Amino acid sequence: MSTKNMKRILVTGATGQIGSELTVELRKKYGGENVIAAGHRRKPSEKLLSTGPFEYVDVTQKDSVEKVVEKYDIDTIYHLAAVLSAVGEQKPQLAWNVNMNGLYNILEVAREHNMIRVFWPSSIAVFGPETPRVKTPQDTVLIPTTMYGVTKVAGELLCNYYFIRFGLDVRCVRYPGIISSETPPGGGTTDYAVEMFYEAIKKKRYTCFVREDTVLPMMYMPDCIKAAIDLMEADPSKIKHHVGYNVTGMSFSAGELAAEIKKHIPEFECEYKPDFRQKIADSWPMSIDDSVAREEWGWKPDYDLASMTKDMIEKLTRRFAEGRL
Ligand SMILES: NC(=O)c1ccc[n+]([C@@H]2O[C@H](COP(=O)([O-])OP(=O)(O)OC[C@H]3O[C@@H](n4cnc5c(N)ncnc54)[C@H](O)[C@@H]3O)[C@@H](O)[C@H]2O)c1
Repeated sequence: MSTKNMKRILVTGATGQIGSELTVELRKKYGGENVIAAGHRRKPSEKLLSTGPFEYVDVTQKDSVEKVVEKYDIDTIYHLAAVLSAVGEQKPQLAWNVNMNGLYNILEVAREHNMIRVFWPSSIAVFGPETPRVKTPQDTVLIPTTMYGVTKVAGELLCNYYFIRFGLDVRCVRYPGIISSETPPGGGTTDYAVEMFYEAIKKKRYTCFVREDTVLPMMYMPDCIKAAIDLMEADPSKIKHHVGYNVTGMSFSAGELAAEIKKHIPEFECEYKPDFRQKIADSWPMSIDDSVAREEWGWKPDYDLASMTKDMIEKLTRRFAEGRL
């Protein structure tokens, strides 16, 4: 299927950390009126409202999804609406409902409307304490200990099932922690990596909720968007996996991130007070082997710790100076 066939795109979770930036990129690429942003409760940004259509959708209600799909004749969905890991541990029933029933509704509506393609982000949360933590391979033990991880494993299996049983072209990546400067993250375990930048700029100090030696895989937003769009544009013959592809950008400890920020803001001080999220972080990989994604559809990240830090600090400093942080 060529990209020419992808005309009417729905993005769920469009007001979230990833959705707010991915939607704008998709609009640049496919035309503003062809990319419908779907939010839920949270007020959309001016940028989201001014660049194309916006609708409210509750993904746990199938008719709510259906109404928008039919109104705009949608043929492609980027399904980003979810409850993330830390909130999911506080509210496991909500996480199950939004993540599982939401995905099921999206897949059903996509099947019933013969859609071209669906993108759904899984996560490194599919891995658990029994998974090898260094250079975690594509095919390995998936026994997570968080509700979020449970919904991501079950979701991957459901996506794969819809491909095998109904021929629905669902494509997934297992994102690591995503770092970005536009919209703050919505309650995940890797949020400290984003908060550290904001607080370094605003207050020159930060109290980190994981230990200094906690190493997790991460990715900068431009690479996160590139992974989604490149995977969705890849020729179907290249896509051999319809469970999540391992993808990563970089791995660093919380202390290494603080040291990198200090190179730009020498007064910056970071202290460490681990909370319940430490246990989640300790159950996840430290680094990811993404060679399968590299081989099958040419995945390659652009940013490392140094280039990401430089760009984040430039962007946030500018926003802080303009009073927009
Ligand atoms: N940000 C990360 O570090 C990261 C890492 C791995 C995977 N992911 C995945 O990427 C996707 C997007 O993540 P994000 O960081 O942008 O999350 P986010 O929390 O910033 O945004 C999620 C959005 O989902 C919406 N939502 C919640 N319940 C809903 C419902 N019932 N109906 C419709 N919308 C609802 C929320 O309003 C929110 O805007 C999720 O599937 C997440 O699991 C994110």
